[in-house]
Amino acid sequence: MDDAVAEILAYLSRHIGEDFQSYSKTMAKKRVAERAGQLSLGMSAYLRLLRAEPAEPATLARMLRIRFSSFFRDPLQFELLASVVVPGQLRACRKELFRVWSAACACGEEAYSLAMILDEALPLVEAKPLVQIFATDIAEDALDAARRGRYLPDSLQGASLGRLGKYFVPCSPGYRVTDKIRGMVTFSRHDLLDPRTYVPPESLFGGFDLILCRNFLMYLDADAYRRVFDKLFRALNPGGVLLLGNAETVPERYAPYLAKVADFGNLHRKKSADCAADQA
Ligand SMILES: C[S@@+](CC[C@H](N)C(=O)[O-])C[C@H]1O[C@@H](n2cnc3c(N)ncnc32)[C@H](O)[C@@H]1O
Repeated sequence: MDDAVAEILAYLSRHIGEDFQSYSKTMAKKRVAERAGQLSLGMSAYLRLLRAEPAEPATLARMLRIRFSSFFRDPLQFELLASVVVPGQLRACRKELFRVWSAACACGEEAYSLAMILDEALPLVEAKPLVQIFATDIAEDALDAARRGRYLPDSLQGASLGRLGKYFVPCSPGYRVTDKIRGMVTFSRHDLLDPRTYVPPESLFGGFDLILCRNFLMYLDADAYRRVFDKLFRALNPGGVLLLGNAETVPERYAPYLAKVADFGNLHRKKSADCAADQA
């Protein structure tokens, strides 16, 4: 990586107190170049501006943490969840709690999609565990938007008409998630790259039956990818299912402990309580 880009990421990490150096170098360089380009500056001049202009670090940080999400993003994954995984897990659940984690949840689209699927599945199964959905992100403004639960029509394109009618209330210029669905999800700040924490602080007691971590790992360098994956693996209960984004894969050392739920969809079931990291 260019020295100037490395210095920019190091400055940003120190200034904001979060790790921007674990992003994939190619992605980070592209994003920094994009921002410098918007201001018609070369890298060195941009570094000077970043140091001098108080609002600039937050702007660059936001560009580096790609925020995009939408409801039922990747319909095939959600179809598998709705028709196979979640009903099966609920039927097999012998515990009082069924715990779910949407990690790097952006503005809540993924967590609310999941809440809708659980709301549909629960009446159809005999077991009625209490469902807890934890949704976390590093960006406080994304979490604030998630708690408000208001969305523009663009982000709803993956929602069926039935779900649109049942779970959303029109609210110009878009839609608001119903209070029932909003009440099913607890949002909190959690930095997946923070080496001092494993799971969201609010959820300390126990592992998760379902973890969604989609379209975040793909932006990390190889070492950070492995560190975050290890956290997710450890947080998953035996028999629990992990969903990754389509461009993300299970690192080789964890493959013996995770079985693909289907040939497609990138869903993985944890086979046993063994910790791959301890065995490797
Ligand atoms: C592309 S979005 C993914 C949203 C959703 N999972 C999806 O697939 O639709 C990536 C999210 O990762 C969050 N993020 C970036 N760095 C993070 C970190 N260190 N810890 C937790 N979340 C982070 C960003 O704020 C952003 O909301």
